[in-house]
Amino acid sequence: MIKIDISRVRDFVSLSQVNALEPEIKEAILKLENGTGAGNDFIGWMNLASGMSSALLDDIQNTANVLRENCEVVVVAGIGGSYLGSRAVIEALSNSFTQLIQDGRNPQILFAGHNISEDYLFELTEYLKGRKFGIINISKSGTTTETALAFRLLKKQCEQQRGKEMARKVIVAITDAKRGAARVCADKEGYRSFIIPDNVGGRFSVLTPVGLLPIAIAGFDIRQLIKGAADMEKLCTSQVPMEQNPAALYAATRNALYRSGKKIEILVNFQPKLHYLSEWWKQLYGESEGKENKGIFPASVDFSTDLHSMGQWIQEGERTIFETVISVDKVQHTMLVPSDEENLDGLNFLAGKHVDEVNKMAELGTQLAHVDGGVPNIRITVPELNEYWIGQLLYMFEKGCGISGYVLGVNPFNQPGVEAYKKNMFALLNKPGYEEESKKILSRLNK
Ligand code: PA5
Repeated sequence: MIKIDISRVRDFVSLSQVNALEPEIKEAILKLENGTGAGNDFIGWMNLASGMSSALLDDIQNTANVLRENCEVVVVAGIGGSYLGSRAVIEALSNSFTQLIQDGRNPQILFAGHNISEDYLFELTEYLKGRKFGIINISKSGTTTETALAFRLLKKQCEQQRGKEMARKVIVAITDAKRGAARVCADKEGYRSFIIPDNVGGRFSVLTPVGLLPIAIAGFDIRQLIKGAADMEKLCTSQVPMEQNPAALYAATRNALYRSGKKIEILVNFQPKLHYLSEWWKQLYGESEGKENKGIFPASVDFSTDLHSMGQWIQEGERTIFETVISVDKVQHTMLVPSDEENLDGLNFLAGKHVDEVNKMAELGTQLAHVDGGVPNIRITVPELNEYWIGQLLYMFEKGCGISGYVLGVNPFNQPGVEAYKKNMFALLNKPGYEEESKKILSRLNK
């Protein structure tokens, strides 16, 4: 089981303060279950796993196999919710080094369309020269500039290198059923395509083909991932009391801390493979909660690496933070600290111990020090990093996010603030339709 330990928040908020939130938490879960809350046309993510059809999973796996057979490299073009979920899962499950190269069994998965860096795109296209590559073009709206721009470049290169016919085989689109340029292009070119359901927003789409196709291409078991998520679904319903319901307990604890003045949540891992899980989590919570001048600011660190950079701030900086630690119980490999006759480094006191034991003591020591320093600590224990447990964790965070948003009093399923930069960028680039905005922005800049 994934366990949530809130014993180390007690010095800051009492158990009764957390429990006092139970009626609000229950009301939020019921709003989600009955579809009566704000943004209720975007709650399709809640039952994606339990409602997943075997035919869709077969379809995704078969498409993955075509790309696995025909590509050394697959580039996932997408941004935000259209890439972070698959990247989080692939990096959590991959070998830290062979994921960076094509290892002979699985295609290398690269990402594009999540920035507008000329250098990134140049270096990517250089790297792809002479390589058999395919593309997954992922965009719900089908119009996101970052993704569309990368796809335009990659599509041309793929067609030139591999020929139109093979390109058609190794380019897949994941987008809306009817709307958007990605749909128009996929239909016109005859690409294999998958639909992002209308009622699932980008950051909640990891359990749709958006996340599942790249994960399957990388060689991971999407059925186990879905099984984990479906099992967690059962544990997070309104029928399960708060202390046994991981999403409810997590949402209640973080909201109790927020109300006590802890405005920043830092997601902590002690396994570098979880770096992108934190990036996915930051988008999920940041975009869902940060509105109407409210919301916990989601930050993240990789420990023990960042104990040597951010550790000082966390230990002694402004006391407005709390930590949520993802602790992985069992590691995948065995590595013992060797004994050394000369003991020049003075490390013989560790000889014979597992490296993970040292890591676990760093984890416990940090937790105690941070609590002493005024940082409350929620601890989420994951038995090990495999598809099943990652599936559970993803769903737990999604449900915890939906609940938290309603408890906070916002619509967790929209993102009106994301449009502001786009409007200015299009006006500055003279996009047709933005003439009025262009005039306004130019007079503002010329003042
Ligand atoms: O969660 C969201 O809705 C956003 O972060 C989107 O995923 C992101 O902006 C990408 O949008 P799209 O998939 O339409 O290209």
